[in-house]
Amino acid sequence: MSALNRVLGEGQILLRLLRGVPRRGSHAERLQGFYAPQAAHYDSFRTRLLHGREDLIARLEFGPGMRVVELGCGTGRSLEFVGDRLGGLARYDMVDLCPALLAQARRRAGGMPNVAVHEADATTWHPSQAADRVLISYALTMIPDWRQAVANARAMLAPGGWLGVVDFHLPRGGRLNGFWRRWFAHDGVHLTAGHLAALRESFPDHWLSERRAAIPYLPIAAPYYLFIGRGE
Ligand SMILES: C[S@@+](CC[C@H](N)C(=O)[O-])C[C@H]1O[C@@H](n2cnc3c(N)ncnc32)[C@H](O)[C@@H]1O
Repeated sequence: MSALNRVLGEGQILLRLLRGVPRRGSHAERLQGFYAPQAAHYDSFRTRLLHGREDLIARLEFGPGMRVVELGCGTGRSLEFVGDRLGGLARYDMVDLCPALLAQARRRAGGMPNVAVHEADATTWHPSQAADRVLISYALTMIPDWRQAVANARAMLAPGGWLGVVDFHLPRGGRLNGFWRRWFAHDGVHLTAGHLAALRESFPDHWLSERRAAIPYLPIAAPYYLFIGRGE
């Protein structure tokens, strides 16, 4: 990609972020309106915004023969972090509601026989067989009924399977919580302290790491977490 293309792409993304998520239409229509103009340059910008996914995927220990589901997969960038382990998986199902991002995910999956891409809602989609791992990367905060998405993820896990989540959040006592809540909400990302509380409650056997990461063009770091919960 030429330098000019990169600059134009970055401009397009920033413009869309400044305009925010469209206010009209169904949830799926608003996602498409928000992401379609960004889809081609999504990954290069989000690489600098969405941290921790590579670490989470490494900690999820995808092994040969496993069935993995990714809810809210976006462009399917996670496949790159799964890397060589992908070929050994029995199945990698990617689920998202936004056709523009799924087009990138399909291109990336490139006909791999064990990878399937589904245009569907993370709160209701269910795999044909139970999953050994479910991954949700920066999607819970964009799903209106996120409690149902967590319940759905839990329901699709095989006994002893793991749910891995990485996302922004509002840490207890965070001085800038009010700022982050408003700043992210403009782009349809709704931070609460409730996500982590609900995850902890749904998965008493869990591992959690709370962190902060740089945000493009801002002089302050945003709070995010990595969570791995073990199903029953
Ligand atoms: C911030 S993006 C993250 C995408 C990708 N997981 C990543 O880390 O780059 C949030 C994603 O959640 C998807 N999404 C939002 N609500 C959804 C829902 N109800 N069902 C499925 N996907 C949803 C959006 O379309 C978008 O792809």
